Amino acid sequence: MKTDRLIVLLCGLMIMASSSVVAEARPGNLKDGQRLYQQHCLRCHGATLDGKGPDAASLSVRPTDFHKYLSRVKGELELEVTIRRGKQLTAMHEWDTRLTDQQVYDLIAYIRSAIPHFEVKP
Ligand code: HEC
Repeated sequence: MKTDRLIVLLCGLMIMASSSVVAEARPGNLKDGQRLYQQHCLRCHGATLDGKGPDAASLSVRPTDFHKYLSRVKGELELEVTIRRGKQLTAMHEWDTRLTDQQVYDLIAYIRSAIPHFEVKP
């Protein structure tokens, strides 16, 4: 019984420790994020993040307009997964092999500072 409790306590501590590490590792650099966005993403997602970049018109699946409600309700993790893995059957390819972790966080910080997350309350 006692060992069980200890294991539960240790697991709890480990989860707390790991999540604070993740939270600390996350913050992105806004300036770098903006520069990376202009370099890699603007041509599709547009200068004002409205999905109307110069290359957007030629795509059958249009790039996401980050101002849209359905995009704003997405948490950072959802954005991160799409940036890293891309979206199948669209021009949004994966960026995992092209960007560092820090660059991905910088980009998310830039997107979320330009268009804040819309919190859905139950
Ligand atoms: C060649 C065009 C193109 C480029 C370049 C591009 N994207 Fe995309 N992006 C898309 C398309 C198309 C979609 C999918 C839209 C859909 O599924 O409706 C998308 C979707 C996304 C989504 C999902 C948004 C959501 O609300 O679900 C994110 C996040 C995203 N892109 C970030 C980026 C970032 C960051 C970059 C630059 C590193 C980038 N994209 C570069 C075309 C592009």
